[in-house]
Amino acid sequence: MDASTSNSGNPLRAGLATERTAPPCAVVIFGASGDLTKRKLLPALYNLAVSRLLAPGSAIVGFARRPKTDEQFREEQKANVAQFSRRKPIDEAVWSTFASGLHYVASSFEDSHGYVRLRDALERLDRERGTRHNRVYYLSVPPSEFGVILRHLREAGLVADPKHEDDGFTRVVIEKPFGTDLATGEALNQELLSVFDEKQVFRIDHYLGKETVQNLLVFRFANSIFEPIWSREHVDHVQITVAEDIGVEGRGRFYEEAGTTRDVVQNHLLQILSIAAMEAPVAFDANAVRDEKVKVVRALRPIRGLEDVARQTVRGQYVRGTTDGKPVPAYSEEEGVPQDSRTETYVAMKAYIDNWRWGGVPFYLRAGKRLQKRVTEIALHFKPVPHALFAASAGRVEPNVLSIRIQPDEGITLRFMSKVPGPETTLRPVTMDFKYGATFGGAGPEAYERLLLETMLGDATLFARSDEVRAAWSWITPMLEAWRELDPPEAYASGSWGPDAADALLRADGHAWRRP
Ligand SMILES: NC(=O)c1ccc[n+]([C@@H]2O[C@H](COP(=O)([O-])OP(=O)(O)OC[C@H]3O[C@@H](n4cnc5c(N)ncnc54)[C@H](OP(=O)(O)O)[C@@H]3O)[C@@H](O)[C@H]2O)c1
Repeated sequence: MDASTSNSGNPLRAGLATERTAPPCAVVIFGASGDLTKRKLLPALYNLAVSRLLAPGSAIVGFARRPKTDEQFREEQKANVAQFSRRKPIDEAVWSTFASGLHYVASSFEDSHGYVRLRDALERLDRERGTRHNRVYYLSVPPSEFGVILRHLREAGLVADPKHEDDGFTRVVIEKPFGTDLATGEALNQELLSVFDEKQVFRIDHYLGKETVQNLLVFRFANSIFEPIWSREHVDHVQITVAEDIGVEGRGRFYEEAGTTRDVVQNHLLQILSIAAMEAPVAFDANAVRDEKVKVVRALRPIRGLEDVARQTVRGQYVRGTTDGKPVPAYSEEEGVPQDSRTETYVAMKAYIDNWRWGGVPFYLRAGKRLQKRVTEIALHFKPVPHALFAASAGRVEPNVLSIRIQPDEGITLRFMSKVPGPETTLRPVTMDFKYGATFGGAGPEAYERLLLETMLGDATLFARSDEVRAAWSWITPMLEAWRELDPPEAYASGSWGPDAADALLRADGHAWRRP
């Protein structure tokens, strides 16, 4: 029995600590001279090799326009890995085996001859390294290039029938954005599914590769004390924050097309929301988990029409301010951004999940750039106590809050009331903290390591399924449409917590945003 089959299966089912080696395969990276390959993909593959999770016979084939030899590609990638790997310095022994499997095909995506050369290279690797006709195609390219690559892969006979995976599997990995609205998302999906079967498609949302997001499933479903209170009976409201302190970092042109809603809410934020709110799946496998997640997104009450959108959402755009004490420019002053841009760099929403568990519980969602601090967290605010037992002079009884910190300072904190020691009965909120770093030591694997490994193992639990993407766009698109008619985003100072209207959104319900 080989290592890949002896302990394969889902990590959660098998226990998160179980290490599983990927079967030998060829990972073809389209866009191999791009930024993502340099900073994330190659360092992740190298780190899988260091962790002995990459089968020794595996190969990585870069495919991009600029001409270069295998040797040049190896040298270039060694420099990238040296700079961006989480483990430093490079382990020369691991690198030399790893580098022997690195190859490069120079071709434009449009040129069919490039795919013939790719096929020849892959067949040679099957013979020489034992990659067993297993292929992962990673499309690290702008979505406008997907169609041409998919078509050429099919025409060159490089897509195997999913029914005969024993003779070698073919999988394709795509990066967000999965479209820009419901119609384009659907068109992209049709394009993908005209060449691949859904089970061959791995849609990366790197948030799902984060340890803390996976731990949310364990926290909820491997403990008995939290689930009974995880509902409308006990939860007053939920706040989900995805805040960044950086601006668009030279990617103004890209951001103009996207905005925070498309860049973060449609994918990362709704993924986190669905894991936080889903029912227990019947099993920990890809379809059972995703079946429950998609039900949450489908149950989101539509926010559509100018009136609802104006009442339940807030958009903002950062203006000048300070980050880390340094002055920073306004979004409209960033390169590639027109001065009269109406693109949002902040969005807040009041959402409801219309189902049995969450009926009537507001979910306040916010995401933005150039906010006071970088933090992603989910906070459950519990209902107040039913009766004020202690005198008002003892202090205000604040509701319990359970917060799950996705990044940074990963951990879980429970806020509860305590008596201050002394002869008086004085109350004060205190916290009980679990910190990943303190309990488990250093940083775990990076999200891309986990997700690349899962792709090679064929486990799609941590990837978005087409119906999830469709449900997310169905919910988001009416808001995008209404915003075109509504006022432009409200200005907020860089380094603040967003526009005033976002505070007013919660104040109207008697709540306030957390200051995490
Ligand atoms: N960068 C990130 O952190 C990040 C994060 C999340 C998602 N993404 C997504 O990941 C994908 C890749 O992003 P990236 O930042 O790596 O892009 P990038 O830096 O612009 O790289 C694009 C790559 O595609 C190649 N390419 C483009 N057109 C080509 C053509 N017609 N023929 C052959 N090669 C062509 C380029 O090759 P040459 O250089 O040889 O021309 C280059 O290797 C995008 O979909 C992006 O949205 C990126």
